[in-house]
Amino acid sequence: MKVIAINGAARKNGNTTALLKSALEGAASAGAETKLVYLYDLDYKGCTGCVACKLLGGKSFGRCAQRDGISDLLEECIGADVLLFGSPIYFNEVTGQLRSFLERLWFPNITYTKDMRKTYPKQIRCGWFFTTNAPLETYLDWFKRQNMSSFFLMGPSEWMAATETLQFDDYSKYAADMFDAAARKRRHDEVFPEDCRRAFELGRNLATPEYEIKPDFSAMPPMPKP
Ligand SMILES: Cc1cc2nc3c(=O)[nH]c(=O)nc-3n(C[C@H](O)[C@H](O)[C@H](O)COP(=O)(O)O)c2cc1C
Repeated sequence: MKVIAINGAARKNGNTTALLKSALEGAASAGAETKLVYLYDLDYKGCTGCVACKLLGGKSFGRCAQRDGISDLLEECIGADVLLFGSPIYFNEVTGQLRSFLERLWFPNITYTKDMRKTYPKQIRCGWFFTTNAPLETYLDWFKRQNMSSFFLMGPSEWMAATETLQFDDYSKYAADMFDAAARKRRHDEVFPEDCRRAFELGRNLATPEYEIKPDFSAMPPMPKP
């Protein structure tokens, strides 16, 4: 099993990176071959909407035609068994860097055909690792919807989140007194290790072929009537 972790966080020793590293350790414990990629180290842009990936008979049909710092990585991801995505929440979304990457990975896989067929040779399992300043309820529905998009666009997906994370090493040095610094530190010492343990478990489960992932439609908005 080949497992690639795509890190959408800028901080290499922050919360998100810690979760992804734990998840990869979990995947390795199930015998997977693992790799961690830092998107902020790569030079690339989001989808330009050229639609070459949809051109029937075109040489880039079903693949991204843009050539830049993620071209080889996209191909490697299409061939992987499991993809792990990590991101801090930036303004209620994944980071721009991860968003741009997802546009390039997701769009070539879909067609606008009536049967909505996919172009990648197989479904790819995905795991999502979010971190946020907010409590879980704030983004619970968004996490579920992001996971459903992943289910539809790539393959069976599961997510986890570390919430109310430690953002500053010393809160007193920053304009950040809306946070209870002592409570954040305590949570980092007491709850975050448990978050990393959950990440390990999710990484191990996703790298275990027999592990079953069931879709959760509970946060889907009502479908518009035709
Ligand atoms: C540019 C920026 C935007 C952010 N926006 C949000 C936000 O909308 N909601 C939130 O809960 N946290 C927000 N945060 C906080 C981070 O999501 C949180 O601290 C996260 O755990 C940081 O992950 P890291 O340690 O891997 O960098 C933001 C942080 C930054 C730097």
